[in-house]
Amino acid sequence: MTAGMKLKQFLLHEKRTGVDLPYDLIELIHEVSITCKEITATVSRGELSGVLGVAGTENVQGETQKKLDIITNDIMVGHMRVSGLVAGMGSEEVDDPIMVPAMERGEYILMFDPLDGSSNIDVNISVGTIFSVLTASKGCKADPEMKDFLQKGTRQKAAGFVVYGPSTVLVLTTGQGVNMFTLDNRIGEFVLTKQGVSIPTDTKEYAINMSNQRFWEKPMQEYIDDCQLGEKGPLGKRYNMRWVASMVAEVFRILVRGGIFMYPYDSRDPSKPGKLRLMYEANPMSFIVEQAGGMCSTAHERIMDMAVTDLHQRVPVVLGSRNEVIKVVEYHARAK
Ligand code: AHG
Ligand code: MN
Ligand code: MN
Repeated sequence: MTAGMKLKQFLLHEKRTGVDLPYDLIELIHEVSITCKEITATVSRGELSGVLGVAGTENVQGETQKKLDIITNDIMVGHMRVSGLVAGMGSEEVDDPIMVPAMERGEYILMFDPLDGSSNIDVNISVGTIFSVLTASKGCKADPEMKDFLQKGTRQKAAGFVVYGPSTVLVLTTGQGVNMFTLDNRIGEFVLTKQGVSIPTDTKEYAINMSNQRFWEKPMQEYIDDCQLGEKGPLGKRYNMRWVASMVAEVFRILVRGGIFMYPYDSRDPSKPGKLRLMYEANPMSFIVEQAGGMCSTAHERIMDMAVTDLHQRVPVVLGSRNEVIKVVEYHARAK
């Protein structure tokens, strides 16, 4: 009965069936989806719109910004600032929390990575947008405080991502499982195409950037060495490897056919224990993956339980098929 429902129709239907979904949260998710339609339209024009290439600036993390990092950030901020639904925002591309004028203030905090995998944009490989929704403690009555932005992953009210691939798909959780909505360009709507997504518990496929191997912790190096030994090694199976360099595409693949994705601890710079950012990459992906029956860890602790100290905090990430993530955690626990 729900098959083929449009995103907002489906969320309203869920609310009627007893799911705890405030109307404002439904509106917020819907507004984010509209923004992502604008982003996919911009991204898909590629060279035609003259937006490929670098912008000549760096973000707070010292990364070179692509023109499209800035353009997609501005689309999201511009749209959400006047939605009447958010009190503040946190973006990968903006150093400080973004406040919303009192007149337009809503109840929620929106954290986002406007363009994930942006190193892939010039070479025409999938990119995406990741978002996470938190509540502001004072609602729309006052500016949110720093503590409102730095909430643990377990406090997320919703999380999702949109992958701009051969088709544009929105993946969403509000804490009641994971659903996928494919953008039907003929009608301009996200339509429910997969309900109750479930990640296979076991896998033979791993994703990791092997070029960093010498900087990982010993147990991570050992686990990958053992994967490479295949059926003759202690793990007893022949693995396949993938690396897209777009987390959105890797997590999408894992949701569809299982797998393990790792961007592990890296010893190069103690201030950057991982590459991925907790608030708008690791936490929303953890919420989605856990809701689909998978597991997410730093290899030492559950990501969504981590204390938050910084808007742009980086964390090691190991996520995906449950039994494989448990194996990686065990390699690390044994070494203690
Ligand atoms: P972003 O484009 O938002 O900075 O994120 C890129 C991230 C993630 O999507 C991907 O898994 C990883 O960085 C790729 O890293 P490498 O460049 O080391 O492959
Ligand atoms: Mn990213
Ligand atoms: Mn990004």
